[in-house]
Amino acid sequence: MLDERSVRCLGVSVASGSAEKLQRALKSAELLETSLHPFRSGGRIVFPVKAPVPESILREVEAVLVEEEFIERRRCPRSIREALSTVLPPELLAELPSSYDIIGDIAVVHIPPTLEPYASLIGEAIMRVNQSIKSVWGEAGAVEGIFRTRRLVHLTGENRTFTIHRENGCIFQVDLRKVYFTPRLSGERMRIASLTSKEETVADMFAGVGPFSITIARHSRARVYAAEINPDAYALLVENIRLNKVEDRVTPLFGDSRMVLSERQVLADRIIMNYPSNPFGFLEAALKILPGRGTIHLYGFTESLDKLRIEVLESLANMGASGDVSVKKLRPVSPRKFLAAADIAVKSR
Ligand SMILES: C[S@@+](CC[C@H](N)C(=O)[O-])C[C@H]1O[C@@H](n2cnc3c(N)ncnc32)[C@H](O)[C@@H]1O
Repeated sequence: MLDERSVRCLGVSVASGSAEKLQRALKSAELLETSLHPFRSGGRIVFPVKAPVPESILREVEAVLVEEEFIERRRCPRSIREALSTVLPPELLAELPSSYDIIGDIAVVHIPPTLEPYASLIGEAIMRVNQSIKSVWGEAGAVEGIFRTRRLVHLTGENRTFTIHRENGCIFQVDLRKVYFTPRLSGERMRIASLTSKEETVADMFAGVGPFSITIARHSRARVYAAEINPDAYALLVENIRLNKVEDRVTPLFGDSRMVLSERQVLADRIIMNYPSNPFGFLEAALKILPGRGTIHLYGFTESLDKLRIEVLESLANMGASGDVSVKKLRPVSPRKFLAAADIAVKSR
């Protein structure tokens, strides 16, 4: 636990019956030290003060000047660096993560190897900075596998990974141990929703718990088909569709999006391909459910926007299609790579 600090300072001791009167007098003389806690000792209260108190105030309530240890009042630190400034040496303070994800009332943080011995202290610091956080988890390894999940280690707070996350006026149940979810794409989800019109049919090929599908359906009122292969994510997707009252517009489909969308004979005007580790493995299937013209939003990890744009154009050409491609950087994922969005206006097939 982070220790409470005590400070030796000047105080005024008074019988508890006169404490309120003295407190008022000290406040109006601007002498009360508000960063420290007063305390009770026997039948007396001891108030911390900023400077010697005039005899006239002391005499009025029969108080005496003393020197005592006072506990510092806890105030919320503004950053984990500030919270740990008296606990970690400067060279380790410099290595503290500058950001972490907040999903509902859970925080997920990347702890560099040098700070691993201090992982639970960092967790406690996060909970002091953000008082609404009830549980902190550390990332243990990369996002991996078909389901794109990540191993997490519990650092502090409640031992649970289930939470309810709110963004863009939508609500999502998430279980971070079982499904993929990032709050960092909330702006991108709204961008796509704002590009979509009510008359469109949208296919979300990698729906997860539904953040793209549900945001689009709620804000544009378009018809959405949401495919997901992870049974845990699918179960939460179904629940989130109900919670957000979009059952009439979002159809969840369980299984491989390369199959379930065409089996359902979906013909889309717009397709979301949020599978950045292997987007091109699914482009052929996407083109199959896009009748001639339409828009694909493809996400990929890349070192350069030009490289991604050329890869998209070449893949389209290999599949007998063409289109206009505009690309944009979303967020860094490693020192050299970032996540990028390619908006593809497919022209012909
Ligand atoms: C990167 S996550 C994106 C989830 C969601 N779009 C979001 O923003 O939170 C990719 C998702 O695709 C799912 N997935 C992987 N392969 C799939 C496939 N062939 N068909 C359908 N879903 C798939 C994974 O289980 C995972 O939930």
